[in-house]
Amino acid sequence: MTYRPDEERYGRDIYNRSGNSGLLLPQVSLGLWHNFGHVDDFATGRETILTAFDHGIIHFDLANNYGPPPGSAEENFGKILRNDLHPYRDELVISTKAGYRMWDGPYGEWGSRKYLLASLDQSLKRMGLEYVDIFYSHRFDPDTPLEETMTALADTVRMGKALYVGISNYDADTTRRAAEILESLGTPCVIHQARYSMLDRWVEKGLLDTLEEKGIGCIAFSPLAQGLLTNKYLKKIPKDSRAARPYGFLQRSAITPQLVEALRKLNALAAERGQSLAQMALAWVLKDPRVTAVLIGARNKEQLLDSFKCIENTDFSAEELEMIDTILAGAR
Ligand SMILES: NC(=O)c1ccc[n+]([C@@H]2O[C@H](COP(=O)([O-])OP(=O)(O)OC[C@H]3O[C@@H](n4cnc5c(N)ncnc54)[C@H](OP(=O)(O)O)[C@@H]3O)[C@@H](O)[C@H]2O)c1
Repeated sequence: MTYRPDEERYGRDIYNRSGNSGLLLPQVSLGLWHNFGHVDDFATGRETILTAFDHGIIHFDLANNYGPPPGSAEENFGKILRNDLHPYRDELVISTKAGYRMWDGPYGEWGSRKYLLASLDQSLKRMGLEYVDIFYSHRFDPDTPLEETMTALADTVRMGKALYVGISNYDADTTRRAAEILESLGTPCVIHQARYSMLDRWVEKGLLDTLEEKGIGCIAFSPLAQGLLTNKYLKKIPKDSRAARPYGFLQRSAITPQLVEALRKLNALAAERGQSLAQMALAWVLKDPRVTAVLIGARNKEQLLDSFKCIENTDFSAEELEMIDTILAGAR
């Protein structure tokens, strides 16, 4: 059936500027790391993506290796682009990345020029695109000169295969050096993709300050700590949850009795705020003005819509923030 997007999709201003750039991103953006591979139900993934677009969520984040199997999220997204979203290409912000293992041999991962350029060509082919909006170095490569990795990124823009470049998982000092190299090449680093949630606050120890100083946006990934910061694990580990699945990175062992106790208390606090735990956890990340967007995962459109409502209340009182910290201190 021909897809017709909701005509009211831009009715709300949900967009934040990424650092000092011209790139505007929805405060809630959708990532395709899990739930969109060939192992997943294509119709459900399509419905989630189209529901996102219907709500003005125009940013979709991919990487060469998303699936499983690796590459299949890009293939599925390419199919949705071809069949449904093609007329709206100029409204979309599509990102992909290279850095983790994608193919065999010494050029199948990390940060060499050869790997990055070959990987982007493969990604474009899988998605049926001429260019992506953002191309990221997915991780810092300690064995390749940073100049080589950054020059390769800048060249993707010169070649017309990417519009903006970003980095992901780089520490604060390396981010500063990368930003300076990119600046000197005339292709500024516009965004940093970093893990950030109530349960993982490493970015607060320097990275966010560096990003602010350099005028770089921050898109926070795994803001729900892969689903831990939701109501799903309060009683048991549901069969269809990420922790119960045989692939992926969320282990059952992460769900300790101390954590569940803390999640129950957070859930009660969220209810007092009139939010689900997921909504409160996302709002908590968005409260920092240095954060451009939260990059969420969603297994279906219901999760997406529940999470999206976080933008309705991102204010926290000092007492609430203190309470959250006290509760989480008990989970460690
Ligand atoms: N740059 C990097 O190195 C890197 C690394 C990781 C991720 N990322 C990016 O960040 C994106 C998001 O990461 P993530 O999937 O870990 O994010 P997340 O939002 O922390 O976790 C998503 C999971 O939380 C659960 N969930 C989501 N909304 C829910 C709701 N409203 N109620 C209950 N449960 C809910 C679902 O788990 P169930 O399936 O269990 O229901 C869902 O699959 C990725 O797709 C990717 O684009 C980047």
